[in-house]
Amino acid sequence: MRRKSLSTLLAASVYLAVSAQAQGPQRQQIQLPEGAGKEVVEATCTRCHGLNSIASSGGFTREGWEQLVSSMVALSREQATTVAEYLSKNFPEQPRPAAVLVSGPVKVSIEEWLLPSLGSRPHDPLAAADGSIWWTGMFANVLGRLDPRTGAMKEFPLKTPASGPHGLAADQAGNIWYTANAKRLVGKLDPKTGDVTEYALPEGARGPHTPVFDQQGTLWFTLQSGMVGRLVPSTGEMKVVATPTANTYPYGIEVNSRGIPWYVDFRGNRVGSVDPVTMQIREYPLPDPAARPRRIALTPDDVVWYTDYVRGYLGRFDPKTGAVREWPSPGGADSRPYGIAAIGQVLWYSESGVRPNTLVRFDSRTEQFQTWVIPSGGGVVRNMMATRDGNLVLACSGRNRVALVEIGRGD
Ligand code: HEC
Repeated sequence: MRRKSLSTLLAASVYLAVSAQAQGPQRQQIQLPEGAGKEVVEATCTRCHGLNSIASSGGFTREGWEQLVSSMVALSREQATTVAEYLSKNFPEQPRPAAVLVSGPVKVSIEEWLLPSLGSRPHDPLAAADGSIWWTGMFANVLGRLDPRTGAMKEFPLKTPASGPHGLAADQAGNIWYTANAKRLVGKLDPKTGDVTEYALPEGARGPHTPVFDQQGTLWFTLQSGMVGRLVPSTGEMKVVATPTANTYPYGIEVNSRGIPWYVDFRGNRVGSVDPVTMQIREYPLPDPAARPRRIALTPDDVVWYTDYVRGYLGRFDPKTGAVREWPSPGGADSRPYGIAAIGQVLWYSESGVRPNTLVRFDSRTEQFQTWVIPSGGGVVRNMMATRDGNLVLACSGRNRVALVEIGRGD
């Protein structure tokens, strides 16, 4: 029960946050204790989210508050000091599941960049073919591009206000496609001109979620309205189909080596595949009824891997045999494994429930784990992606950063 309500709650908080941005400041839900700093917090922090984000955050040290707030809002030095003192006194750091560090043979270096629009909630990252790193600035209604060699960044405004840019995929020509989660559309940005083309969802479809291209250049995407969608860029033709089971939440999606999209259902213990021609969806149950796979990665052998966010497991589903195997994540049952990517036969993912958030490596050949902390704390890494040269990019939502993970070779 507890677990089910957690995911419902999370989905609700995302919705609230987005609608708050669309409809103006959210009504205050909690009473703040008296003290210098209270007024600034009330006035500035509610622009993007409720004050309960502060109360339920588990608190921070003074330094931690200072850092966190500076990623969300630009205050004068004096205000920043007052606010950090106020918050650390009233919301001190609480014990939390701590990151569990597992040593191992691989070296990584993690570099992070603070993004220009503060509090922009970078949701998904994209490693482009030219080496640049893109992100969706969900609350700032922008797509952003970083050149990790120079640190130069540029944000591209989107056409429809408060559209909630969420997932990203790049086509062969270098256009950047995104799902506008709050506005029932899929968009295409031409980075050369900044032009945005929008494709409206059909009637009854909403919450376009995660997009991915197949080998033919067809765009596939999941929808929060229990559907999977297909968009053919050359014709603009879009089609969505509902999953066989009602009340589903297709979430992460990837295309296998034979052009078949696979997705995970965050509202049930199942994964699904889509026939690329007929769009018929086939669902496969996972053995534990409490399983809630959130993101998916495919290894070159077309095996399906998933992060079981609610139970704290890494899972493996073999479509050839139907066999499921699971490994408890190093951070434990409440570690909330989330964004995941495969590089060859190695899985990389992040634990979003431990503080600081971790980067986890799992070698499927040796079944060994290794973990690192994310320097900024991560603030929930909702998605990650492998670069062409075998590194990783991450979006650190609550720290308003994107990260490049360089993985030592000889691995
Ligand atoms: C411009 C928008 C914006 C403003 C203004 C803003 N925030 Fe945030 N805040 C965010 C975003 C985006 C997140 C991440 C939400 C998510 O990922 O779901 C966040 C998350 C948080 C969290 C949760 C972080 C965690 O790791 O648990 C806390 C605490 C927080 N904000 C405190 C504040 C405080 C205090 C202020 C005012 C001084 C403030 N915020 C002002 C955008 C903003």
